[in-house]
Amino acid sequence: MSEALLEVRDLSVVFDGFRALDGVDLTVERGELRFLIGPNGAGKTTLIDVITGLTRPAGGSVRFEGRDLAGRKEHEIVRMGVGRTFQTSVVFEELTVLENLDLAASFRRPLWSLARRRRGVSDAVAAAMETTQLHALADRPAGVLSHGQRQWLEIGMLIAQGPRLLLLDEPVAGMSGEERQHTGELLTEIAKEHTVIVIEHDMEFLRRYASQVTVLHEGKVLVEGSVDEVRADPRVQEVYLGRTDDTFDPAVAGKTTASAGGGRMAGGPDAGTAIGEGVVAGPGAAGTGTMSGTAAGPVAGSAAAGEVK
Ligand SMILES: Nc1ncnc2c1ncn2[C@@H]1O[C@H](COP(=O)(O)OP(=O)(O)O)[C@@H](O)[C@H]1O
Ligand SMILES: [Mg+2]
Repeated sequence: MSEALLEVRDLSVVFDGFRALDGVDLTVERGELRFLIGPNGAGKTTLIDVITGLTRPAGGSVRFEGRDLAGRKEHEIVRMGVGRTFQTSVVFEELTVLENLDLAASFRRPLWSLARRRRGVSDAVAAAMETTQLHALADRPAGVLSHGQRQWLEIGMLIAQGPRLLLLDEPVAGMSGEERQHTGELLTEIAKEHTVIVIEHDMEFLRRYASQVTVLHEGKVLVEGSVDEVRADPRVQEVYLGRTDDTFDPAVAGKTTASAGGGRMAGGPDAGTAIGEGVVAGPGAAGTGTMSGTAAGPVAGSAAAGEVK
């Protein structure tokens, strides 16, 4: 029997007495494109931090390809085949796109191959360039790239490292509609050959590109299923629309959005559905990007407070 690529069991993380993750189970099979969603503070980034060795769990286990990741260092986990992006971009601005990809690719290469003089572009870099379609920008310094292009470069840098599991933390936050679409297509392409976990907030994006979704809420898995199942689940609707405290980012969605006129898709055919087609605001820095340029800001308060004037 083949084992799952990633098996998270009863995982807990405690920060100063606060349970950021509380008994999380997550199984991701080889070849899956799994979306991980949930309100701000749900523990999504923390989960990725534990998988990648950045944060130590208080309990539970993480197995990748059947091997326990407990106690392993970050670089060791990268070498085992787990790659991630961060909510903030980490490209080298003064290096070109090609150099960034090449550097990333060399990270997993054994020393003997680094010492060998290489001609041209390695297969890994060529593949990353192909997947991300960054050819035209190959010789531009990363510093001049648009926000979207930087994100694609980062994804390309991950691919160049040849990971078997990619963890992407809010890749479309702050992107324009066109950039989101490109990213969605990129993810679909990448998922053909990789297993991918994507943290995302934008419900419209989810509806278009996701199949399997895991919803985290207050450190626990709330629901898991297809996009339609998750969207229809009353518990998810409660979490996204029914919160009364302002710790949750505004869910600009469904009825609230339609009434208040915020959100990109407000008034569209689906605007009245639960967790509708509006932009569901992401948290913190990333989420504000999601919201920018929409009339959704002020609506947020209403949505979070559960009232529409
Ligand atoms: N290093 C840390 N120290 C203390 N608390 C943290 C730390 N990292 C995250 N938290 C807290 O853990 C909770 C989950 O955070 P996070 O995983 O970033 O949520 P998400 O990515 O779902 O928005 C939040 O309440 C956050 O404030
Ligand atoms: Mg996060």
